[in-house]
This record gives sequence, C-alpha cells and structure tokens, in this order.
Amino acid sequence: MISTSRLLLRPFTVSDAPKLFVMSIEEGMRRWIPDQVYRDEQHAEQVARALMAFTAQSPDPGVRPYVLGIEDQNTGVLIGHVGLSAARGSVEIGYAIEQQLQGRGLATEAVIAMSGWALTELSLPEVLGIVEADNVHSCRVLEKAGFVLEDDEIKIVDGVSRTRRIYRCRQDRRSA
Ligand SMILES: CC(C)(COP(=O)(O)OP(=O)(O)OC[C@H]1O[C@@H](n2cnc3c(N)ncnc32)[C@H](O)[C@@H]1OP(=O)(O)O)[C@@H](O)C(=O)NCCC(=O)NCCS
Repeated sequence: MISTSRLLLRPFTVSDAPKLFVMSIEEGMRRWIPDQVYRDEQHAEQVARALMAFTAQSPDPGVRPYVLGIEDQNTGVLIGHVGLSAARGSVEIGYAIEQQLQGRGLATEAVIAMSGWALTELSLPEVLGIVEADNVHSCRVLEKAGFVLEDDEIKIVDGVSRTRRIYRCRQDRRSA
C-alpha cells in the first residue's frame, strides 16, 4: 500500500468489481483506454482477480503488471487506478480517475506516489509515460509529476495523423 495526503493506493479486492465496471465505461476511458472498458461487472471482476493475483506476488512490473486501486482516504471509496507494466523494454505508468473527481490534482498525486515508489523502492532506473498528444489532461499529469517529454511519434491511423508522446522520469531528474 502507498499512502499520500489524500489517497491510498492499494490492491484491488473482488468487492471493487461494480465500481471498476462503472468507471471503465466513462467517456474518458472509452476514448483513451478502450482496452480497459469492461462488458459488465463479471468482466470487471475477472480483471480485478487477475490484478489481485499479480499484486499478491512480489512487485516486478517488467515481468507482470502491478496495478493498484486508488482509494479516497476520507471516504474509503475506490476512485481510480494507477499501475506499472512492461513497455518498450522498460516500465510505463498508467492511470485513471473517475470523471466526477477529475481536475483536482488526484491523478498527479497518484502518479507522483507510484512513480516515486517504483524508482526508490523497486530501484527502477526510469518510468515511462506513453500518451496520445490529444489527451492533454494526461500529458499535464505527467509534466506536473516530473516526467520529461523525450519524443513524439507520429503515425497514420485510418488516414489520420496521430501523435504519441513518450515521457520519461528518472530518479536523478525527479530529485533535481
Ligand atoms: C487523465 C486523467 C487521469 C487526469 O486525472 P485528473 O485527476 O483530472 O488529473 P489532475 O487533476 O491531476 O491534472 C490534470 C490536468 O488536467 C486538468 N484537468 C483535468 N480534468 C479537467 C477538466 N475536466 N477540465 C479542465 N481541466 C481539467 C487539470 O486542471 C490539470 O491541469 P493543470 O494543472 O494545468 O490545471 C483523467 O482525465 C482520466 O482518468 N482520463 C481517462 C483515462 C486516461 O486518459 N488515462 C491516461 C491514459 S495515458
């Protein structure tokens, strides 16, 4: 578990499934993380169980995802998720906050805590953030959390040009 001033980052439980499903079908999730939109509560429960099995093992996000639920410390309610997973020979961070609580700095708080934990406790050399350039709120989260924009990748999808931003956070840069 990782605690911040407003949040508790903790493993999922089976009882998170209904809320996990509701959050997964919100507009932002459909647009930006469509592979994490679940069919129903049962599907969300399967995902929660898989994530629980991963977090029951020692954290090794280059090998298996390490994803925690974000809980509001005041209410004890699940309000999002933040996690680490393998990408490009390194580890990337992913995150989401439920729609009605966005714009309050909660994702930034969770990303600072999770990436800081990965760099110090897991001794990872770096954490990547890989985001569509159009997802401006997500880009802002990474920038406010101390990630540095390293590259823009442009690719054509269905005749439309899409830019993907690659951010990187290193321990030396975070503390600089
Ligand atoms: C991206 C996301 C996690 C941001 O969560 P959040 O808790 O709102 O983020 P924060 O409040 O920490 O900061 C985000 C920035 O976007 C702004 N922002 C967020 N929601 C906003 C809104 N509805 N209107 C205006 N600005 C908003 C914040 O003000 C902040 O920018 P600023 O410091 O320049 O003001 C959230 O929008 C989300 O879950 N989106 C869907 C999933 C997703 O895209 N995940 C990232 C995939 S890479």
